[in-house]
Amino acid sequence: MIAGNRTINYLRISITDRCNFRCRYCVPSTPFSVIEHGKIARYEEILRIARLACDLGITKIRITGGEPFVRKDIFSFLEQLCAIKSLKDVSITTNGSLLTREKIEKLISLGIKRLNFSLDTLDPVRFEQITGRDRFQQVWEAIFTSHELGINPVKINGVMLRGINDDEIEAITALTLKFPFHIRFIEYMPMGDSAVEKQQQILTQEIKSRIESRFGELEPVKKGSNDGPAKKFKIKGAMGIVGFITPISSHFCAECNRLRLTSRGTLRPCLLNNYEKDIINPLRNGVSDDELKDIILTALTKKPSFHGLSDSSGKDIPISHMTSIGG
Ligand code: 5AD
Ligand code: SF4
Repeated sequence: MIAGNRTINYLRISITDRCNFRCRYCVPSTPFSVIEHGKIARYEEILRIARLACDLGITKIRITGGEPFVRKDIFSFLEQLCAIKSLKDVSITTNGSLLTREKIEKLISLGIKRLNFSLDTLDPVRFEQITGRDRFQQVWEAIFTSHELGINPVKINGVMLRGINDDEIEAITALTLKFPFHIRFIEYMPMGDSAVEKQQQILTQEIKSRIESRFGELEPVKKGSNDGPAKKFKIKGAMGIVGFITPISSHFCAECNRLRLTSRGTLRPCLLNNYEKDIINPLRNGVSDDELKDIILTALTKKPSFHGLSDSSGKDIPISHMTSIGG
């Protein structure tokens, strides 16, 4: 599938807006409601859309949430998804808190080789302050068990916030000295009504220069064909990689190769733009595969060439919070 001069081969599917965590940069500070069960796309519906998208050229799928492992029967869904022949790569973004050794083994047996975890701190008390849950140990174990069992790469996403966890930039980065992890620092994106202040945002340049003053100049690492928007580097002699995801300081829209399917069954060509195309209702009303493919292609024509979050006006765009889009 083509959008402008970008080839779209990557679909991110959010299978639920629910999450067992309450990360302060992600969930709204005011009470919020979750989507009613009947409105959430059923697995068989998601699978039909996924198969059609693969017919149209999608070769990589990432499952996201909320937290994907809070949804029931995810393993039978994943099994059917992984069975799509033209699909080369299935990966999952998770907070890791529900991933026991047995579940990680199951994922590997389905052919899932890549996992992205979220981890913003190495301190269990602070972990609870940031996520609202006392689950550091489970997440830490899930990360190391995944590594031990051969998940590669194990990616770890961290959102650094001034005055909250920015004193851990160096310690988190140091994990790459001993382990082949890909640590990725994601710039905080103001999402409507989150509890985090704009002033707490730390941009990549500052994080990078702090890392370099501790560990020496970072060596750039070439991008692989499977890579997302992270700019990748290595500390000299390190096992792992340090990456920066810069939605704010330098937008990577020109190379964005992804389309999103939300848990409400809408297609979303850009995370940071509120345009969504309904696909679930036409599907439930019985349209043909060809008509569904047309809907997918129409959504892609709406893929913007840039987003407005780094807009010089500095205004936050009141977009829906991450759990409802899938990150
Ligand atoms: N800004 C930046 N990253 C965020 N995430 C969730 N909300 C935000 C936000 N407002 C990250 C989480 C997770 C990934 C899917 O998205 O840390 O790792
Ligand atoms: Fe849940 Fe991830 Fe949002 Fe945290 S960042 S509340 S783990 S969806």
